[in-house]
Amino acid sequence: MLKVIPRKITMPIPELGSNSLVKNNPVLSHFFNALSTLFPIGEAFFIASVKPFINNIKDEVLRKSAIDFIEQEKNHSYVHTILNRGLEKYNMKVRYKNQEFRTKKALRFYSSEFNLALTAGMEHLTATIGYVIIRGNYLNNVHVQVADLFYWHSLEELEHKSVVFNLFQEVDGTQWKLNLGMIIGSFMTYITTLSRMVHFLHKDGLLFRFATFKEILNLHISQEGILRKCLPLTIDFFKPNFHPDQRDDFELIADMENKLKGIFIVKEA
Ligand SMILES: [Fe+2]
Ligand SMILES: [Fe+2]
Repeated sequence: MLKVIPRKITMPIPELGSNSLVKNNPVLSHFFNALSTLFPIGEAFFIASVKPFINNIKDEVLRKSAIDFIEQEKNHSYVHTILNRGLEKYNMKVRYKNQEFRTKKALRFYSSEFNLALTAGMEHLTATIGYVIIRGNYLNNVHVQVADLFYWHSLEELEHKSVVFNLFQEVDGTQWKLNLGMIIGSFMTYITTLSRMVHFLHKDGLLFRFATFKEILNLHISQEGILRKCLPLTIDFFKPNFHPDQRDDFELIADMENKLKGIFIVKEA
């Protein structure tokens, strides 16, 4: 497990808000916009699922990592809430009706252990997206400040990728819960992201175009399509004896941290 280091953004945070986030690609632009609208609510769920276990974590290193995981997710949520303000100005539906209520209901509906399994699965998903974003060139033509924020978020997702997985192993460890959590979590994330992306494209009057349809397809099936790149890495989760740390991301993180120097301060331990 890597050391989890909360990094607080010090630069002014811009606002998202158009289909030209990625030059000449409204589909990819709204894919990132959709992800951004999903983060604050998702991260609130992740934090709430970890909190009930914090005080009883026996392993001191894991306990400290879980506390720092919460700190990182709080920072992500804050930054994306500001980024998302631009989307609201464009009359995009950012706060979906009853969203908070539904999250609270989900937390009560499942057991605390299963909520943790759901978070472990979704953390694998966010780490996978982060890994693909950092290694790809999807943000090459994006406004540098926005790109840096997505890179900062991605690097921290990689850094804390095994925290909730390890925590789940300590408190429960049941494989079927982990697998089911992953299936439900991935399905929900995929459907929500896609439906928001479609909503944004519709608002822009770009949905019913051949070029849009082609780009949505590209996202899924082309060699460089972000979703195609994520799929095999996501499925790794179901391999026997899988552990997120089986892929060493230390150098990738160090490299990105170096590139981003100056946009954040590190909170002293
Ligand atoms: Fe996050
Ligand atoms: Fe995360």
